[in-house]
Amino acid sequence: MEVADQAEQLREYVRGSRRQARVLAVTSGKGGVGKTGTSVNLSIALAMRGKDVVLLDADLGLANVEVLLGLNSLYNLQHVIHGERSMPEILADGPGGIKVVPGSSGIAKLADLGPNARQRVIDGMQELQDRADFILIDTMAGISQNVAGFAAAADEILLVVTPEPSSIVDAYAMVKTIRLMRHDAVFKLIVNMAASEQQARAVAGKLMTVSQQYLGHKLHYLGYVPRDPHVSHGVMQAVPFLLKYPAAPASKAIETLAASLISQRDAVSGRGGGFFRRFAETLGLASNA
Ligand SMILES: Nc1ncnc2c1ncn2[C@@H]1O[C@H](COP(=O)(O)OP(=O)(O)O)[C@@H](O)[C@H]1O
Ligand SMILES: [Mg+2]
Repeated sequence: MEVADQAEQLREYVRGSRRQARVLAVTSGKGGVGKTGTSVNLSIALAMRGKDVVLLDADLGLANVEVLLGLNSLYNLQHVIHGERSMPEILADGPGGIKVVPGSSGIAKLADLGPNARQRVIDGMQELQDRADFILIDTMAGISQNVAGFAAAADEILLVVTPEPSSIVDAYAMVKTIRLMRHDAVFKLIVNMAASEQQARAVAGKLMTVSQQYLGHKLHYLGYVPRDPHVSHGVMQAVPFLLKYPAAPASKAIETLAASLISQRDAVSGRGGGFFRRFAETLGLASNA
């Protein structure tokens, strides 16, 4: 653990303040842009810096977190929904010290839950928020009520975009949708598969300009990950590239993203703690619709 982290822990201890995880939703307009890879490796990078990290797999796609990590969990969110297991009981140990909440198809049905089941999910997630420093949520692509609901409720939205024009257009649509649900949503852009830093900044700049101009919404640039063959090698071996190829350009970039997130702590302090209340409200809206 770094000295700064220890000092912070000590201050928290002295203040007697309870820990409240920062909830980061990793999302995008279109699929295949690198959300799952970014979620997994960024979670590990944060854990390697001494943070307690929970990664919630809310992606039902074929290449989800569990597949990417080669996990084969006995229990998942479905068991929490049905009251058969508690949230801590379904936590799986991931690589690099991260904890994984296996999502299951239960995620898609969250909006349709009855009051008891919904309360179990919300209580369980609240419990996670009390024990972790960061909760990352790997969402599905697309603008379903649940995806946008997760993202809108999060403290920060890590919006992954690639230089492809369709990815930029869809990312903008995502900003528009989430903003309707939450006008003060905080978006941080990650440009993935960039050819260079200049290209990444140009892509981010385009989105930031359009969003400012047409929505009056300011987006933030978190950083970029270069296109790097090590990423797909890692996928094929079901080992996160950060652990398998720590010196690879993509790994260095993920390290930088993690450091930036940690250093931005003050920028978001005071926002924490509301995630599950906001999420419950979103679910309420969804089920009343
Ligand atoms: N920075 C990168 N460089 C090269 N390939 C990448 C990069 N990021 C993602 N990929 C590849 O793109 C594909 C989709 O990544 P994934 O994380 O599953 O996207 P998503 O979760 O958004 O659908 C994977 O095959 C992965 O290997
Ligand atoms: Mg994915």
